[in-house]
Amino acid sequence: MLESYLGSLFEMLNAYEDAEKSCGDPNIVKELQARRVALEVDFLKEDIPDLMKESKEGIVRVRKIVQDLKDFSHVDAKPEWSFANLNQGIDSTLNVVNNEVKYKADIIKEYGELPLVQCLPSEINQVVMNLVVNAAHAIGPDRGKIWIRTGIENESAWIEVTDNGSGIPKEVVPRIFDPFYTTKPVGKGTGLGLSLSYGIIQKHHGQIDVQTAVGKGTTFRLVLPLKQTDKAE
Ligand SMILES: Nc1ncnc2c1ncn2[C@@H]1O[C@H](COP(=O)(O)OP(=O)(O)O)[C@@H](O)[C@H]1O
Ligand SMILES: [Mg+2]
Repeated sequence: MLESYLGSLFEMLNAYEDAEKSCGDPNIVKELQARRVALEVDFLKEDIPDLMKESKEGIVRVRKIVQDLKDFSHVDAKPEWSFANLNQGIDSTLNVVNNEVKYKADIIKEYGELPLVQCLPSEINQVVMNLVVNAAHAIGPDRGKIWIRTGIENESAWIEVTDNGSGIPKEVVPRIFDPFYTTKPVGKGTGLGLSLSYGIIQKHHGQIDVQTAVGKGTTFRLVLPLKQTDKAE
């Protein structure tokens, strides 16, 4: 609507400009021209359509983010066991945490083809979010990389999040899944991410493993059964 109104205003403005030529009073013509220069009307004519286009693109992005937030949290649905497309879930999750990650690392996605996996999708999204945010936090001042891989092996789906960040010292590894264990300053870490993730993966009868080397990076690997034998389809 705004775009169409602006179009009408510009059309009118152009008509006035054309009419200036037949204005008998040279003082008025001079005054109009001076004002046009002072107000940068020619620039406005060029820039307003660009701004309009950027605003529309911004609105489309906001809509996409809101949709991804809804997918991520499954607010449209009750938290229920359902068959979910994990690759799609990871994509929504990445959009949600994009702000934490985009200044620190490039994300490299290497998704395999996955069947639908029976899970609590919003909880799996939470786990992936924790792993990706941890990966971003592990990256130092230089820009790093985070690989997200998925695949299928032995009737199970797997998801790996790998970073080329700090790595975890050997003596620390046994403690990282403990509730409230954190090496981060107050305000940045709660120490709950991995402990909650561990609980969620247990509830799914899956596994969460870590492989790490100080100075090289870390891989967290989730393994999830495709179906839950104790749950209805
Ligand atoms: N990708 C990683 N690289 C290095 N250290 C990690 C990584 N992921 C987790 N950690 C270590 O495990 C600790 C616990 O992680 P987490 O439970 O998510 O809590 P928080 O992130 O709030 O500290 C972190 O403080 C950090 O020391
Ligand atoms: Mg964390």
